[in-house]
This record gives sequence, C-alpha cells and structure tokens, in this order.
Amino acid sequence: MCGIVGYVGSREAAPILVEGLTRLEYRGYDSAGVAVLNGRGVETRKVAGRITALGELLTRTPVHGACGIGHTRWATHGAPSERNAHPHVDCTGTVALVHNGIIENAELLRARLERAGHRFATETDTETLAHLIEDAPGATFEERVIAGLAPVEGTYGLAVISEADPGKIVVARRGSPLLIGVGAGEYLVASDANAVLQRTRSVVYLNDGDIAVLTPLGYRVLDRAARVQDRAVDDIEWDLETLALGHYPHFMLKEICEQPDSVRATLRGRLLPDEGTARLDGLNLPPARCARVQRIVILGCGTSWHAGLVGRHVLEDLTGIPVSVEYASEYRYRKPLRLPGTLTVAISQSGETADTLEALRAAKAAGSTVIGIVNVVGSTIAREADGGIYLHAGPEIGVASTKAFTSQLVALLLFALYLGRQRGLALAAGRTLVRELERLPDLVGRTLELEPAVRALAERHGDARNALYLGRGVNFPVALEGALKLKEISYVHAEGYPAAEMKHGPIALIDENTPVVFVAPKDPVYAKVVSNMQEVKARGGRVVAITSEGNGDLRRLADHQLSVPATLPLLSPVLTVIPLQLLAYHIAVLRGCDVDRPRNLAKSVTVE
Ligand code: F6R
Repeated sequence: MCGIVGYVGSREAAPILVEGLTRLEYRGYDSAGVAVLNGRGVETRKVAGRITALGELLTRTPVHGACGIGHTRWATHGAPSERNAHPHVDCTGTVALVHNGIIENAELLRARLERAGHRFATETDTETLAHLIEDAPGATFEERVIAGLAPVEGTYGLAVISEADPGKIVVARRGSPLLIGVGAGEYLVASDANAVLQRTRSVVYLNDGDIAVLTPLGYRVLDRAARVQDRAVDDIEWDLETLALGHYPHFMLKEICEQPDSVRATLRGRLLPDEGTARLDGLNLPPARCARVQRIVILGCGTSWHAGLVGRHVLEDLTGIPVSVEYASEYRYRKPLRLPGTLTVAISQSGETADTLEALRAAKAAGSTVIGIVNVVGSTIAREADGGIYLHAGPEIGVASTKAFTSQLVALLLFALYLGRQRGLALAAGRTLVRELERLPDLVGRTLELEPAVRALAERHGDARNALYLGRGVNFPVALEGALKLKEISYVHAEGYPAAEMKHGPIALIDENTPVVFVAPKDPVYAKVVSNMQEVKARGGRVVAITSEGNGDLRRLADHQLSVPATLPLLSPVLTVIPLQLLAYHIAVLRGCDVDRPRNLAKSVTVE
C-alpha cells in the first residue's frame, strides 16, 4: 500500500527520499514521486511505475533542496498514472503534500472547492487536501493545515510542505500510521520505520489525532488545538543489514530460511521450564483476569486468520475455553454481542490492517478486553490493544507472509500454555510442552533441509493449473495456508479443504493433472487422512504427502512423500507449513513470477 517519507535537515533531500521509498517498495505500489523545497519553490518529480524510474528521472532532471516529501502510491481513486501520483499541489503550486489513507467525503469537498474556483489536476481524493490547505486560515503553516483538515472525513497520514514556510514539514495522522525519525540535526517522517533506518534508529510513533512540525532544529508534536504533546522516543530493533537480501534471490526465501531464528526470537525469555508455563510480560492478563475468561474471539485476515484457526485448536485443547475465529472484515459489520467474559485476540503481522484494526475497535466498544498478537512494534493494533504479544520475528519484507505465520503460531502456543496453566492444565503437561517448544527452532532448521526435495517436487508439478490442499484437525488451517501461498505468488488456482470434506464436492476436481497435497503428520487423525488419500488415489489423483518422520512409508499411496521431524501434534503446524511455503516459492520462481511483489497485492492492507 502507499508509503510516505519526508526529510528536513542539511543534506540533499532527494536521494534520501528515494532511498527511503526504496525501503517501502515491498509494501506494493504503482507510481512514485517526490517534492522538494528550494529557493525556486516546490519542485516535483513523478513517475508511473517503479522507483528506479523515479531515480533515473531525478538523475536527468535533479531537484536540489534540504526539505522534501516522497510517496509510493497504490491506486484507489484514479488510475495508476504519473498525473495521479503524489505529491499533489494546490492551485498556486506552492503547497505540496503526500497522503496515505482515503478521504471519504472527497467528492463533496471537491465539488465545493470547484464551485469556489479551485482547479483540479488529478482524479485523486488526496488533491482536495492541497486545495483545502490553500484556502485555510491560520497564523502559521501548521495552523493552516489543522484548519484545512477540519472538514475532512476519512483516514490520513499526511506530510505537507509549503513555499511560504521553507524548511518545515507539517504532518498529520488520523487512521494511517506515521512516525518521526529523530536524527542529528535532521528529522524524517515515514509511514514505516524501514524508511528512516538509513539515517536513524530513534523514532517517535505518532498517535491518531497528532500533528507534528519538523524543522532542521527539532520537532514538536501538537494536538488539534496546537497544544504541545509529549511522545516517547523508541529504538528500532533491527538494522539496515536485516533489510538486505544478502545471498538470497528473494526476500520470501530469505524469510522462509530465517524461521529457526524467528521462532527462537518469539520464544526468547518466555519459557519457564520448572513451572511448565510461559512468561508473557506485555499480556496484561493477570491470573484473576484469566479466571474470568469465558470465551475467546480471534480476529485476523488472510494468513493471520489461518494462524487464528490453528490457535482455536490449541487454545481449546489447552484451556477448555470455547474459541471462535472471525474474519475481521466480517466481524466488524455484524451486530456486536456484549457477552461478559469475552477476550478478543487480534492477530496481525503489520499491526495496521484496516479491517483487523476496526474489528478490534468494535470488540472494545462491545466491552471486550483485547490483546494483540503483532509483529510490528509500535503499530496501531499493538498500541490500541489492552495488552499483547510481540512476535519479534524481525521485519517481513516479502509480500507473502511466512516467518510471521510460524511466529504467530508460536505466540499462540505460548498464550495457550500460559492461559491453560491458569485454568487447570497439569504441571507435567505444561513441562512437556515447554520441552518441546524449546526444541522447535532446531526442528524448524531440520525441516528446511527438505528444500532440495521440495524444489524437485515443484519441477514435477509446476505446470499444474489447479491444486488441492487437504488437512484435518490442527493441520487443516495449514492446508488453507499452503493453498493461499501458492495462489498469491504463482497465480495457480489452489483450494484448501478439511480432508474429509473433499468427498462432499471437491472430489469432482480430481484427475491426473491436479496435485493433491495432504498435510498428514502423526496425530490423532492421521489414519483418517490416510483413508482420504486412498480416495484420491482410487480416482487417479496425484498425491503429495507432507507427513512426519516415523510415520512409515506412504509410497504405496503417495507419488511424493516429504517427512518433517516428529513433534507434538499441537506444534506440528509450525513444521508442516514450511514445505508448503517452499513449494509455493519454487513453483512461482519456475513460472517466472515476481515472488516478492505479486501482482495486485500489498504488504499491509490499510484500506477496507
Ligand atoms: C498472505 C498475507 C496476507 C496477510 C493479511 C493480513 O501471505 O500476507 O493474507 O496475512 O493481509 O495482514 P496482517 O497480518 O498484517 O494483518
């Protein structure tokens, strides 16, 4: 989705803006641009297409100046063209701004502004903001921005510069994340911490409603009445090295291979072997509150929703508390049920997914305590939840979520272990789980050794036009996740189903051209899944079995068998998903797809 970066200091802004925008590329975009302030006023450069093209344009026609703003656009209102790319300017060309979010009353505002004589140059909702600020009253630039935003409905993260006030960036946040990068004699604004890392690791996360003013001398955070607000300075946990590809051809492969470390990071300092439980400091759920939980609602989208489905299984097993898992986008529009004792768990890698955030707000409004399971530190969901568990998986750049998924599963296991022990799970059972969780990073490492076999499998099945993924119990969501991975990066149609549901419809799809991937580690439903394999085999289907070591030889039934290390059934999804991530990756590469930037997708979906 759209990305913002701004710079004010003593250096040339344009190269810093381009570098920052490059760090935001992974979020998905279709056009890009910068505006820089200098003695000649506001100069903009924009392109439809990639940031490399913007860099080339800036080489041909440079812009000089030490204060500027930049943007990557993911089109919502108006086609992805150079004209519609940000920054947008007012009628006089002296105010320029970049915007993330959606202005919901843009049509109305535009009509009103046109009647007042303003001329619009683009089809975007954003341009209305430039014209509103052009007309707004105020003694200072920030007062004009505040006044200009008053009639606006919708969401924005905004950075504005004005020729009348050189050396100043005014930013505003409502519903779209923004942070300030605090450097030495220079300040940045960005929608994502990765964009400021080139210059600083110190950041101030802005709250909804904040206005901030950046100059080379410092920054101030204000409320809408221009009163100064106090905001903490945080440190970014990772460095530029983490954001580099290293020897990997794609971020997706890098992140798949990082999973022993990311799983280890999610577990670090959280296992208590003697007590057979987990320590989750940020959860804010002391024993008395655990005792009051009568039902759990898990909210998420996409891969995070799949993690939630695994979480349901794990939580019900270890705590005995009933759990429902909801698509955040559906939940938020249903009648809220005010059921006492409801604990809501919002799962989100980015912590910014609009549907999950709004669902969290709806749950809170209905009186529920909300905890967040989130990767991105300081993200909106993390800040609005009553407590939570950070994944500490490190930045996930590949659009297809991989390491965040396995860390989400681990966080849910830790949460279920903690809650379970509060709710009567035996010490011995807790200790067994802790022991097995301690082994997990190594087991993930051993699972990655399957890569050459998975690559061979991809070569064998890379030409398939459809695929079925089947699993049962705690591994049914893994089947869903395997199918999602394949379709989103290789554009091959794939369906995930509970294995036994196959005979209620999807069995009609089975033929010799449709690979059927079974997720069948050793667990209580293993024998049942093997029966489902028989049914596919009997109809001439191509069977791929992801099973676990010690499960014996399935070659009689399966054309291919891949065995992950054996572990407790509740932990098995952390391992069984890995060959499916690798399979999707290698099929996509063989088909020549842009693995890290699949078409139409964005990393963080901040619109509804
Ligand atoms: C799939 C994928 C998406 C996200 C979904 C939610 O690979 O990445 O399905 O899982 O958009 O995103 P977060 O977890 O950031 O809320």
